[in-house]
Amino acid sequence: MKRILITGALGQIGSELVPALRARYGDDRVVASDIRMVSREELGGDGPFEFLDCTRAKRIQEVVRRYDVGTVYHLAALLSAVAEQKPQVAWDINMGGLYRVLEVARENRCAVFVPSSIGAFGPSTPPDHTPQDTIQRPTTMYGVTKVAGELLCDYYHLRFGVDTRGVRFPGIVSHTAPPGGGTTDYAVDIFYEAVRHGRYTCFLDGDTSLDMMYMPDAVKAMIELMEADAARLVHRNAFNVTGMQFTPEVLAAEIAKHVPGFTIDYQVDPVRQAIADSWPNSLNDSAAREEWGWSPDYDLSAMVVDMLENLRAKLGRGAA
Ligand SMILES: NC(=O)c1ccc[n+]([C@@H]2O[C@H](COP(=O)([O-])OP(=O)(O)OC[C@H]3O[C@@H](n4cnc5c(N)ncnc54)[C@H](O)[C@@H]3O)[C@@H](O)[C@H]2O)c1
Repeated sequence: MKRILITGALGQIGSELVPALRARYGDDRVVASDIRMVSREELGGDGPFEFLDCTRAKRIQEVVRRYDVGTVYHLAALLSAVAEQKPQVAWDINMGGLYRVLEVARENRCAVFVPSSIGAFGPSTPPDHTPQDTIQRPTTMYGVTKVAGELLCDYYHLRFGVDTRGVRFPGIVSHTAPPGGGTTDYAVDIFYEAVRHGRYTCFLDGDTSLDMMYMPDAVKAMIELMEADAARLVHRNAFNVTGMQFTPEVLAAEIAKHVPGFTIDYQVDPVRQAIADSWPNSLNDSAAREEWGWSPDYDLSAMVVDMLENLRAKLGRGAA
């Protein structure tokens, strides 16, 4: 088996995808990479790590050839809120990085996984049960790079036969690495604050409904899609996937069932609220279910129980 390369491997998703892939395929088959350096303990394993800037084509080529890479999980990107602060840099990293990864994949016949996002939709997209194939006119730089990325991946498959695959992730909730500056980060922050202080000030309005997913389901989606029978894939790139939908009010009420006295108040950040308002309320992920058997394991109540248990252990607070 050829090796797997992960770009942006130290981020929220990569820091959980890397150990899952290493457990499945073996430590030395999975090469983690990022533009940050961390200690071996923080890396959480013995597998290879490379300093790799995804905007540098020669360096990607060098790593792909040295390790005989057959599959790239391309996770390096700037997330929605950060991309709105630095749109020019976001274009360079999100589009420049993806283009270079796809070119190296074309030359070396690698398969490529690329995560798109609910950010690839915009205010003119049908907001409820958003279909797989629908209007995509996002109003953020993040969204522009995600739609363009979906199209570029389709193009590399159709034109050059590169085995590109991807999903549109919703907000991802996890307890290992902190989120990287997205609009749905509140759904992670709220758990830390609930365990530490029993209260949380939310930067989105209480009734803002968004799709979300627990990290074990996100990792499962990536691996299952890359292992799926190619003959069954009609869409290939950018499958809608979701685990659950909730608002800050609903999430807070669920947390309060396990953290007595937990309270939430609101100090709305207009930038992130505008981004959230331009995204769907709920996705229809039937294409992923039909074409590669997607089915999430966690609903809201199961996720809340598991998050609190893990964070109490991590932060050293006894179970309430
Ligand atoms: N986390 C979510 O809720 C979510 C939702 C939808 C889509 N996604 C997508 O999933 C992917 C990974 O997201 P994440 O949450 O892990 O992001 P993150 O911000 O936590 O991590 C991104 C990583 O990329 C690295 N990076 C930045 N610039 C780089 C460069 N030039 N070269 C190499 N590495 C670079 C960063 O150091 C960081 O470790 C992104 O494409 C993101 O758009 C994430």
